[in-house]
Amino acid sequence: MEQVPDKFTQFEHEGWERVAHKYDSVWSSLTRQFIPYLINAAEVNAGMSVLDVACGPGYVSDAVRKAGAIPRGIDFSEKMIAIAKTTFPDLSFVQGDAQNLPFEDASFNRVLINFGLLHLAHPEQGCAEAYRVLKSGGRFGFTVWAGPEKNPGAKIVNDAIEAHGDLDVGLPEGPPHYLYGDRQECQQVLEQAGFDGNSMNHNMRTVEWRLPSASYFFQAERDAGVRTAGLLSRQSPERLDAIRVAIENGIGRYARGSEIVLPMAARVVVVSKP
Ligand SMILES: C[S@@+](CC[C@H](N)C(=O)[O-])C[C@H]1O[C@@H](n2cnc3c(N)ncnc32)[C@H](O)[C@@H]1O
Repeated sequence: MEQVPDKFTQFEHEGWERVAHKYDSVWSSLTRQFIPYLINAAEVNAGMSVLDVACGPGYVSDAVRKAGAIPRGIDFSEKMIAIAKTTFPDLSFVQGDAQNLPFEDASFNRVLINFGLLHLAHPEQGCAEAYRVLKSGGRFGFTVWAGPEKNPGAKIVNDAIEAHGDLDVGLPEGPPHYLYGDRQECQQVLEQAGFDGNSMNHNMRTVEWRLPSASYFFQAERDAGVRTAGLLSRQSPERLDAIRVAIENGIGRYARGSEIVLPMAARVVVVSKP
């Protein structure tokens, strides 16, 4: 971590420290489903050195190891790193900021970020750092949530907050929630970081997230999230309740028997360093 982090990084850091212990039980059944897509798209092969940025509890690192490659995980949350080390004691994890990686230039064959990039105050700086630590010919792969127009789960939360929320609650400004969803814009940012834009793969993947009840998603966002949780915690009780009801109603549509099967979509992006 830089010595005096900007307000958004500070907000994110406090948030992840607060919810780290809930991440595995609340979110991992969703985020883990994208890891095989990410590993395949980035063509992770045996023997490669792979940096898992914003590693959280270390699932990407574990998948990298299972592919026969050599992972190294980094996350700015001390608690996440402690969980990763306990969960995967034979793997290597270190605490540090994705925007200022503590590694030499040209150290890795692959850099992967599963749902971490848009938690950075300056995602373009995360891309520049990925570029720097990659070897020539290496690949950078990441996932970001698809926007509401393509992502039923995101649409439900987005619509509920737009209809009933107060957005002007003094949250530190961060990157747009669905940045990099547009292929051209994504290519441009990656080219600015030095990557070969023509090599970019930018695909959408949709998975089914199985939820035990219609109230699960709202509770997950409120109790185990960071950015949306910050917004929800600053709403009046009336607004919060209206958001809750709108999310539960939206999700009810996806009931299948006693559970909810909610489609969630993300972009899987991979690009090469010349
Ligand atoms: C949504 S979780 C993703 C965890 C994991 N990659 C996965 O596949 O589920 C986002 C992670 O990004 C980390 N993070 C956020 N900002 C960061 C930063 N500036 N540097 C390093 N890690 C950061 C958080 O601590 C958290 O573990």
